[in-house]
Amino acid sequence: MKPIIEILEEKVAAVMSELAGEKVPAIVKTSQNVKFGDYQANGVMSLAKKLRKNPRELASEVVAKLDLADMCAAPEIAGPGFINLRLKNDWLTARLVDALGDDARLGVDPVEQVGITVIDYSAPNVAKQMHVGHLRSTIIGDTISRVLEFYIGDPDKVIRQNHIGDWGLQMGMVVWAMQNVMEVDASEMTLADLEDVYRKSNILMKDDPGHGDIFRNSTLKLQNHEEPEISLWQNARKVSLDACIEIYKQLNVLLDNDNVRGESFYTDKLPGVIESLETAGMLKESDGAKVVFMDGYKKPDGEPLPMIVQKSDGAFLYATTDLAAIRFRLDQLKADRVVYVTDARQKLHFDMVFNCAKQAGWVQGDARLDHVPFGTVLGNDNKPFKTRSGENIKLKELLDEAQIRAMAVVEAKSPDLSDQQKQEIAAAVGIGAVKYADLSNNLTSDYVFDWDKMLAMEGNTAPYMQYAYARVQSIFRKGEIDTEQLIADAGNLQLNEEMEIALAKQLLRFGEIIASVASELRPHILTGYLFDLAQAFSSFYSNCPVLKADTSVKESRLMLCYQTAKTIKKGLGLLGIDTIEQM
Ligand code: ARG
Repeated sequence: MKPIIEILEEKVAAVMSELAGEKVPAIVKTSQNVKFGDYQANGVMSLAKKLRKNPRELASEVVAKLDLADMCAAPEIAGPGFINLRLKNDWLTARLVDALGDDARLGVDPVEQVGITVIDYSAPNVAKQMHVGHLRSTIIGDTISRVLEFYIGDPDKVIRQNHIGDWGLQMGMVVWAMQNVMEVDASEMTLADLEDVYRKSNILMKDDPGHGDIFRNSTLKLQNHEEPEISLWQNARKVSLDACIEIYKQLNVLLDNDNVRGESFYTDKLPGVIESLETAGMLKESDGAKVVFMDGYKKPDGEPLPMIVQKSDGAFLYATTDLAAIRFRLDQLKADRVVYVTDARQKLHFDMVFNCAKQAGWVQGDARLDHVPFGTVLGNDNKPFKTRSGENIKLKELLDEAQIRAMAVVEAKSPDLSDQQKQEIAAAVGIGAVKYADLSNNLTSDYVFDWDKMLAMEGNTAPYMQYAYARVQSIFRKGEIDTEQLIADAGNLQLNEEMEIALAKQLLRFGEIIASVASELRPHILTGYLFDLAQAFSSFYSNCPVLKADTSVKESRLMLCYQTAKTIKKGLGLLGIDTIEQM
């Protein structure tokens, strides 16, 4: 089924377009207040301006021609020309019956004719282990790719790319230090050894100016694929990546070795980037470096801001690699949309890279390039979240702590469960809490990392959502309900009470929520929806007895419970958060 909002949008837009003599949008939104119906079309006002008509009169012309009788009660005109639309009970009921029978997609059709999306996320630098700075890209990117996969309905059309930083000077430093200051054999190297050599080489770099040349020399050998540099590099890279993949597992993030295409992958494609820019007439020389100037980019002093693509010593830059990656994704991976999830400080970088790719003619047709920038995770002091001694917080330690803290919550709430059950719940709740807290923020804002808030059982949190799910499961256990029979009887569904109807309407919004996350790439639309849904369920549940109701009413209410649980599970699943059967 198409999202309700889209059906309404199409119908209203068709009438408006007919009156306008050209295609115009209806701008249908979900009503903020039930007083104004369930949906509201807001497009009449701007059309009236264009046609120089009275907006309320135009609205009545639209309403007169609008054929929504099967779906909506008579539309109302409100304010300066809003059209308020209220769904009919029969229609709503029939639609929910259809959705009830569809376990996999909850009645939401996959969209057709959508091309391939490449999504670039996580992308840590491998010289160090992952820290809290990698949290957001990893989980926001994971959610966006899960939502797109569901939206498009074809896993082959969403290609995850982990653009790890595995090349360049930092790796030259690591490789040199592995040969000169590491105490263990490369084959026995651990993550701790890797961090240790990287730290030591950084100190040498700072304290001894001579080391700059030594490191550059080692980097050069690495770049020429010489031995032993290249083997040592492979070793270090593997140690680091293995640790990343452990973290992805703990985080329930769908990234593994198959998704890795790091900076090193693009090295042989960099000269081609320079050539192509040359051919496009975009390359300029500046102090021996090769640069690109584009309109609209200025330094603070007003001078044009160049994008450097090759330094005077021949070295390539971060931007050059991104240009090579964009070409690869468009040409080889056949992307129609490329999404980059990084912190907001890289906004200008991607802006310039996208523009350069367009000007160079690499972006065909209406292929889309999207940067999803996000804010910083802050500590209680409102400064970037660090350890007391001012170091980056390791992601592994943070996630372990989440599980330990969640365990305390579980112990307090359900002391009688088995140890294994407690462990499983603690993992789902702890990791879920960290992810949900992050995803429920407006992307571009910074947010304060607050254990108590994210683990709270009340409010817009993962534990609250997981609890809402578990509560329904317990109703089904207690009532010994045969869910298969329930679904087989879906045709008996009846919606009478106000709270039942309100809950049904929330349930049926799922499709439009998926569509808007897919288009706007903002996960908090989904968390906000889930919270609204859980609240609608709560009001329903406290006003409408379920197991104690008469048989036919009871059956309908159980169907509402069933669909609520399924929708929460699906929604949390798209956020990469597990549900639990009891809590
Ligand atoms: N490795 C980079 C960093 O840690 C992020 C890479 C993001 N992706 C990209 N295509 N540039 O900042």
